[in-house]
Amino acid sequence: MNVLVTGGAGYIGSHVCVELLEQGHNVTVFDNFSNSSRNVLERISQVAGKRPSLYEGDLRKAQNIGCAILTHKPDAVMHFAGLKAVGESVIKPLDYYETNVSGTVNMLKAMQAFNVNHLVFSSSATVYAPPTTPDDLPLTESSALGPVSPYGRSKLAVEHVLADYAAANPYASIAMLRYFNPIGAHPSGLIGEDPKGIPNNLLPYIAQVAVGKLPHLTLLGHGFDTPDGTGIRDYVHIMDLAEGHLAALDYLTAGFEGCFAMNLGTGQGHSVLEVIAAFERASGKTIPIVEGTPRPGDIAVCYADASKAQELLGWKATCTLADMCADAWRWQSRNPEGYGRRQ
Ligand code: NAD
Ligand code: UFG
Repeated sequence: MNVLVTGGAGYIGSHVCVELLEQGHNVTVFDNFSNSSRNVLERISQVAGKRPSLYEGDLRKAQNIGCAILTHKPDAVMHFAGLKAVGESVIKPLDYYETNVSGTVNMLKAMQAFNVNHLVFSSSATVYAPPTTPDDLPLTESSALGPVSPYGRSKLAVEHVLADYAAANPYASIAMLRYFNPIGAHPSGLIGEDPKGIPNNLLPYIAQVAVGKLPHLTLLGHGFDTPDGTGIRDYVHIMDLAEGHLAALDYLTAGFEGCFAMNLGTGQGHSVLEVIAAFERASGKTIPIVEGTPRPGDIAVCYADASKAQELLGWKATCTLADMCADAWRWQSRNPEGYGRRQ
């Protein structure tokens, strides 16, 4: 198949590109490189043995995405392009609605115009209302929705747009994948997560401490109602996540019409202290810790009920936390400057 991957140069998109190429698909990356490096395309080629095509464009410009779809005639679109920093979304909400929501509308109009029906969309566990009691967990696809940031609300808004679009278009075939906490890197050490500036998320932060770029990790809250007092999350290996996308694409192209939401997680939670310990074992480095206070909106525990993905797609995450840390460390230690420096 010809697959257009918006945001294909980013963290998740690049790993999915590798899987798509390795399974024999033709891949076109659509990206404006606002949060990624052009070097990733060469790395994808090195890993997959085949180079994706590139359409450099901006989703906010309807003509760009329209031309990309007209030129490359995809059978399916995988849609990763978007803004994803929770804190930034509070300061610049319109940027988030413009890129995430209006950008998706631009893309859907182009897909409709050129009869492209299959779409896999990167949604997020952040669309759920924060779990407040143990009864709220694990989060199933029918758990209460209620994002608490403009970022989360923009992702939920996109879900509504897609559901309404599918209801009006009998051939639309759409999977909305709600990721929990993707971490890790391709086992080759050639592609991985390369955040700009100081990382917002736990794993890339720990990895940069381990490699000596940052002095210590700040433990954001140690008084949660969890066994060790630190936050618990459902970390899922990026390669498991990538395989979940391929399984979703297979499901759509096997004849599914409509739109569904689906969790992609392991169903298991790990605390911050457990992640630190696993990373220390994987890297042989000690991670110095400084106690801090929780970020606004930080929750104690969040993990998925991942059974729907297994039932519908036959997909189940298989990698352990140790695998995730080992692969993240291989990537970080071999590429201390991310894609900025060649190996
Ligand atoms: P990323 O920032 O690494 O990748 C996003 C890519 O989209 C980047 O290459 C960026 O340059 C590109 N992009 C941004 N705005 C664009 C625009 N206007 N036009 C064209 N390209 C544009 O992010 P990621 O971690 O790979 O996340 C991918 C998707 O998954 C996002 O939609 C995000 O909301 C969602 N998601 C991510 C996580 C996570 O923890 N990483 C969790 C849940 C959901
Ligand atoms: N944490 C620290 N120190 C840090 C960073 C994080 O102690 O420097 C802790 C957090 O308090 C939390 C855990 O590590 O307990 C995980 O934090 P992340 O930022 O890695 O992940 P979150 O679950 O908080 O956020 C992620 C995505 C958001 C998304 C959210 C819900 O980054 O975009 O999941 O799906 F909204």
